[in-house]
Amino acid sequence: MPTAYHIFVCNNQKSGVGDDVAKALKNALKKQGLKNLGLGGEKRKSRVQTCNCLDACKRCKKGPGAALVIYPEGTFYGAVKPADAAELVQEHIGHGRAVARLLLPE
Ligand code: FES
Repeated sequence: MPTAYHIFVCNNQKSGVGDDVAKALKNALKKQGLKNLGLGGEKRKSRVQTCNCLDACKRCKKGPGAALVIYPEGTFYGAVKPADAAELVQEHIGHGRAVARLLLPE
């Protein structure tokens, strides 16, 4: 059974940026042909969902973006803006590489 990527985006911000980030991630997955394909061309479904607070702000540099987590790795990103979506999808889902500049400290 192929593993799936699940991306949960906090949409607890007053600005609503989390919803915009989730929408941008969905669009990027579609555009890059990675909705049903992941790392190394392996068949992997990707789902993007908004969620209530991930309680990640205590650990993140509070910024204008949203926090999100990508499973199965459990990688937390912070201050993600819609403009970061294409890079996140290409690097993390497409190549299995974390985007260092957006990582939240452990
Ligand atoms: S507001 Fe929810 S993780 Fe920051």
